[in-house]
Amino acid sequence: MIVITTPTGQIGGRLLEILLTETRTRGEELRVIVRDPGKLPDAVRAHVDVVTGSHDDPEVVDRAFAGADAVFWLVPSDTQTPSLEAMYSGFTRAAAKAFTTHGVGHVVGVSALGRGTPVAGRAGHVTASLAMDDLIAGTGVAYRALANPTFFDNLLWQVASIRDHGVFTETVAADRKAPRAATRDIAAAAAGLLLDRSWTGTGEVPVPGPEDLSPNDLARTMSDVLGRPIRYERQTLDAFRTALAGRGMEDALAQGYVDMMRAKDDGLDDGVPRTPQTASPTTFREWCEQVLKPAVQA
Ligand SMILES: NC(=O)c1ccc[n+]([C@@H]2O[C@H](COP(=O)([O-])OP(=O)(O)OC[C@H]3O[C@@H](n4cnc5c(N)ncnc54)[C@H](OP(=O)(O)O)[C@@H]3O)[C@@H](O)[C@H]2O)c1
Repeated sequence: MIVITTPTGQIGGRLLEILLTETRTRGEELRVIVRDPGKLPDAVRAHVDVVTGSHDDPEVVDRAFAGADAVFWLVPSDTQTPSLEAMYSGFTRAAAKAFTTHGVGHVVGVSALGRGTPVAGRAGHVTASLAMDDLIAGTGVAYRALANPTFFDNLLWQVASIRDHGVFTETVAADRKAPRAATRDIAAAAAGLLLDRSWTGTGEVPVPGPEDLSPNDLARTMSDVLGRPIRYERQTLDAFRTALAGRGMEDALAQGYVDMMRAKDDGLDDGVPRTPQTASPTTFREWCEQVLKPAVQA
């Protein structure tokens, strides 16, 4: 049986769709941990075992991991977290214990690129995510961390600005190329690892997308697909921090984003060479055509 956390999220939701299709003929059971089962489509609810609650709750993971062979692990963002350690490792602690108690064989977690780079220790959210990977790996379970770059899908947070002003904002240099990937590819990578569990030990599986892209590259492709000029506006890290605070984000979390974005400009995502095996398929143009354009036009 495979247990899926965050089945209502971008990655978890797509993963569940893939697993529902793939497990139909294999006879493997699926169980989800969800805070509100009402958010699951009826067709999904009928085919999965549902454990209600949050996956940082010891009682919830204890119920959910009974009889589990494999677990998909994703830590949600928490704008009120007291520290990055609490958000990633703190949230994972009960599950890490339950992996051992219940003899879970394989865990696939959502994490980030950056391990081994000179800036990995001062990269805010990414540093905390890598520490979470170490916590899980330390339990002795077979573990694969999906090492992700910035998601294409983050641009969906800026749909209103793209539609109304033709502008999107980030903090990295306009011509700084770096890997970027679609969440659907991350879900597909997770599905592959959860279905073929012939792997052992611990390690990372990078999902670097098909090519390195700069904000200027993104602007060009968006302009082309949307049929109107879209411009990149670089934000200073101070302005970024002020904007996060203005949205009510706790200092520790905001500082974590600032440190991560500074580290990205300093090469955080450059540590893993793309290979034909790691390159994930969805191009930015395809993502713009299939996801961004409908969202902008909605
Ligand atoms: N964005 C990036 O560029 C990037 C890059 C690398 C790694 N990551 C990592 O990717 C992950 C985000 O993945 P995503 O985009 O798929 O997430 P998402 O779409 O934001 O989904 C979040 C999920 O977490 C659930 N959730 C929220 N708060 C919760 C809580 N307190 N307890 C239990 N469940 C809760 C939500 O369920 P409800 O329906 O109950 O709200 C939802 O299913 C994060 O771990 C992040 O660090 C992101």
